[in-house]
Amino acid sequence: MVKNTLPAEAITDPRTFTDPAALHGLLARIRTTDPLPYIQAEDYAPFWLVSRHADIMEIERNAEQFINAPRQAILPISYELKARAASGGQETISYMRNLIMMDGDEHKSYRNITQTYFTPKGLAGLIGDIEALAKEFIGRMDGADGEIDFADVAMAFPLRVIMTMLGVPAEDEPLMMRLTQQTLSSQDPEFQAEGGARKAMLQMYDYFKKIINDLRETPNETLASVVANARIDGELLADRDVFGYFNIIATAGHDTTSYSLTGGMLAFLQNPDQLAKLRADPALMPLAVEEVLRWTAPVKHFCRTAVRDCTVAGKQIKAGDYLLLSFPSGSFDEKVYEDPFTFRIDRKPNRHLAFGTGPHVCLGQYLARFELQSFFRELLDRVEHIELAGEPRFVEGSFVGGVKYLPVRYTMKQQ
Ligand code: HEM
Repeated sequence: MVKNTLPAEAITDPRTFTDPAALHGLLARIRTTDPLPYIQAEDYAPFWLVSRHADIMEIERNAEQFINAPRQAILPISYELKARAASGGQETISYMRNLIMMDGDEHKSYRNITQTYFTPKGLAGLIGDIEALAKEFIGRMDGADGEIDFADVAMAFPLRVIMTMLGVPAEDEPLMMRLTQQTLSSQDPEFQAEGGARKAMLQMYDYFKKIINDLRETPNETLASVVANARIDGELLADRDVFGYFNIIATAGHDTTSYSLTGGMLAFLQNPDQLAKLRADPALMPLAVEEVLRWTAPVKHFCRTAVRDCTVAGKQIKAGDYLLLSFPSGSFDEKVYEDPFTFRIDRKPNRHLAFGTGPHVCLGQYLARFELQSFFRELLDRVEHIELAGEPRFVEGSFVGGVKYLPVRYTMKQQ
């Protein structure tokens, strides 16, 4: 499963993420030799690569010392300069601010706007709808001729779930899909926008502005309306904050889940004994989904900035230093997992870091779990046999990604 061929700087190279065996070989070597190396790669601001589960947890939970502002991701300096030039020389994007850019009490107040909505209790009313959508999208395989790119189904389902919650009609979903990929996975040549990620973001801004204005005039019971009409200290959110909220839910809320669906499907196809085990005992589904999340970890990293000088894992970190939290690395840490490179659907405990941890832990984690469980449950109910029909392809990108092309051959059960 692992190849030990890449230098540590390759963690910044988008192409590294198209080859999971090489990525995991690199991360495993870093964990067991120098688990917190200082990486100085050409065209990148230097950063500490945090590879161990325990160190990621410590940093994320100590959010006063390790903050999200001012940097959320490690991207090429040339890319950042281009983005800055495009926004008139400003370091931050003037028209957009969201949860991942905030810290402390401010972050808490903004997160509280939707926190209850995204708890298992808050989402309970939606489960029926999510199950119906899983039925509808798996049902589409019935109409195909027994061979498809599974990514088409796996991309469309979470997109519909989240866009319904944001009040986006089905006919605009292809546009939203494109704009999300052009902002979140903009390193991949297939997803590059003319005018760059910023142009895609501005197009999304204009789109959501209209929805926000409509909901302010005519509020309803939806999540979109809760966000559009939220007030902090009695004031409606500023334009850039309300757009930031829509933007992060729209972007973080579907292709992450989709990459867990495609990557999970690939793991099942490569480990048919585990698929058979799940078919034989569907009660294992919640555990199986945790293993899929650990295995796929679609968010490849987030970044923190140290506020004061400190020591982590014996290294002297200076105020202002950047730390890259490698979620795929933490989720395969051999100090936490027995046989980390074995896909085992009954793994327990399984405290993976696919959703991060601490105050910024994924807001949509329970929604994503419901989606994954409903989808794979429906798949097992409807599909008799499924196998790989070609070479899968992975997203070229060091931030968010996974399997983007997954040709499969299958037969449906007779209803
Ligand atoms: C398999 C699917 C998903 C994965 C792997 C994932 C992963 C993550 C990760 C790693 C973070 C950062 C956590 C940290 O800094 O500690 C995050 C944050 C976030 N996620 Fe997800 N996510 C998924 C699905 C979703 C969905 C469905 C939503 C829909 C609402 C969502 C909304 C968010 C938001 C709003 C944040 C920012 C939270 C904050 O900064 O307070 N995610 N997610």
